[in-house]
Amino acid sequence: MKSFSDQEVHSAGTQPAERVNPAAVKAMAEIGIDISGNFPKSITQFLDQPFDFVITVCDDANETCPVFTGNVGRRVHISFEDPTKVVGTPGEVLGAFRRIRDEIKVRLREFHDREIWRLRPAASADLQAVSALLTESQLPLDGLNEQFGSGYTVAVSEAAIVGVAGVEVHGDDGLLRSVAVSPRHRQSGLGAVMVRNRIEWARAARLPNVYLLTTTASSYFPRFGFSVVGRDGLPESIRQSTEFAEACPATAVAMRLTLKTY
Ligand SMILES: CC(C)(COP(=O)(O)OP(=O)(O)OC[C@H]1O[C@@H](n2cnc3c(N)ncnc32)[C@H](O)[C@@H]1OP(=O)(O)O)[C@@H](O)C(=O)NCCC(=O)NCCS
Repeated sequence: MKSFSDQEVHSAGTQPAERVNPAAVKAMAEIGIDISGNFPKSITQFLDQPFDFVITVCDDANETCPVFTGNVGRRVHISFEDPTKVVGTPGEVLGAFRRIRDEIKVRLREFHDREIWRLRPAASADLQAVSALLTESQLPLDGLNEQFGSGYTVAVSEAAIVGVAGVEVHGDDGLLRSVAVSPRHRQSGLGAVMVRNRIEWARAARLPNVYLLTTTASSYFPRFGFSVVGRDGLPESIRQSTEFAEACPATAVAMRLTLKTY
């Protein structure tokens, strides 16, 4: 299994045992992971800490899964049979631990590849990968290199760029553009995380309005506070942006988010 590298991972239970089950220690040692020094922890010690994800791994066929009340980005449930409940010879019990160990490995790997990404500011070296992602997402490249840099953020998963969003500054206002998520990472909240990140960037840059133009996603942006505006109402600076002037067809819908009113 590839490691979760730059992720900080904790595990805890609602009713922690006094010590880690010896069969678990043995099953993990067989694959080269020494957990003999680990000890069971209670979730109560983590309740006041923020987490990007809380994954409940209880056996939903046989128990009521706990609700974590802390500050959590997303809750995910992946059900596994509880190997401590298996009744049998020591060999059969160890066999159950091995089976669940392998299942956890496969399913958490799937989860990692699907969900774990990290945002960072775009760098000029990202332009080629971002262009490929925009092309794959059928978004225009026109004018991209004019402001590519600090106004853009990229999402990285396993060293690959899987998401991008940018705010360009035109006159006094911002233009949100190039919001794209690679197909494999869609529908997991990444688009929303990036849009919110760019709105905060625009707020910090004291831009009173953020505009966008879209032909395909006008029903995606109202959830962030954007509403449709007539193209006539767009400021001249936005109309003169390359995206507006060259890339967006006349059928594109213009939207605005007002961050500050005078
Ligand atoms: C639009 C896009 C960035 C959304 O990213 P995402 O990470 O998949 O979206 P999220 O996980 O944050 O949100 C998923 C929700 O958005 C909705 N959604 C996704 N794409 C949408 C679209 N094009 N139009 C309307 N709603 C859309 C989903 O139906 C889902 O709705 P739900 O919460 O009611 O289930 C992504 O689909 C994409 O890259 N599309 C191609 C490029 C594009 O059209 N970009 C917008 C250009 S302005």
